[in-house]
Amino acid sequence: MTQSSTWIRRGMVFAAALITAVGIQARPFEDIKKDGKIVIATEGQFMPFNYFQGSKLTGFEVELAELVAKKMGVTIEWKALGFDALLAGLRQDRWDLVIASHGINEERSKAVTFTNPHYCSGGQVVSLTPAIHSGADLAGKVVSVQTGTSYLESVRKLPGIKEVKNFPKDTDARAALLNQRVDAWVTDRFVAKQAISLAPNAGMKAGDMVFVERVAAAVAKGNQSLAAAYNTALAEVMADGSYAALSKKYFNEDVRCK
Ligand code: ARG
Repeated sequence: MTQSSTWIRRGMVFAAALITAVGIQARPFEDIKKDGKIVIATEGQFMPFNYFQGSKLTGFEVELAELVAKKMGVTIEWKALGFDALLAGLRQDRWDLVIASHGINEERSKAVTFTNPHYCSGGQVVSLTPAIHSGADLAGKVVSVQTGTSYLESVRKLPGIKEVKNFPKDTDARAALLNQRVDAWVTDRFVAKQAISLAPNAGMKAGDMVFVERVAAAVAKGNQSLAAAYNTALAEVMADGSYAALSKKYFNEDVRCK
């Protein structure tokens, strides 16, 4: 090995060690603004919030993020990934922001910084029989939920639950109900509403809500400048009527937290 290649190798080893030691720095808003482009990750499998219409990523959250980014003066580069990968990717600086219906909770708040919420909702029981409609009715029952969601956490805590089956995608948790492999599916109440209206003959019945949550976007832990810029832009979109119009288009009601 020549002298210079040895030094290059040492330099690379040193750089790698430095990144491991200090962690990768999330991009502050100033850098994103200079770049003109924000990288946003979502799942794309959670209709009507984020989903694919053919090859096009769309949904309430996708369109809302577009409105917010416009106010921030940047364009969006979208990434679509499995739900489980989203918050972890913020840590590794693989994207700047995540918008994928994450409910704000203590556990997640340890790992990421949440923005202000963009809607309020909660987990709802869906079953094929009116006999299973409340949290109490789930005692002794098998329930499907999406892996890594707040539904999993809340259903686990219900007294007497027989089994919680979890699926990487919420659509698979729904399929498990339709195939009668579980007694109930717990999902977001607006997801449930849409699933029922798209398959009116499938026999799905919306039951009670088992908990409520405030849903927000997330940025890397401590990236305050980005959270602040996003919050300012979100407040503008909520004030100028564009949020209201978008919410009406998707839900026929205003879903912001009251
Ligand atoms: N609101 C639930 C949670 O906070 C579910 C989110 C699921 N999002 C998704 N893109 N599948 O965990």
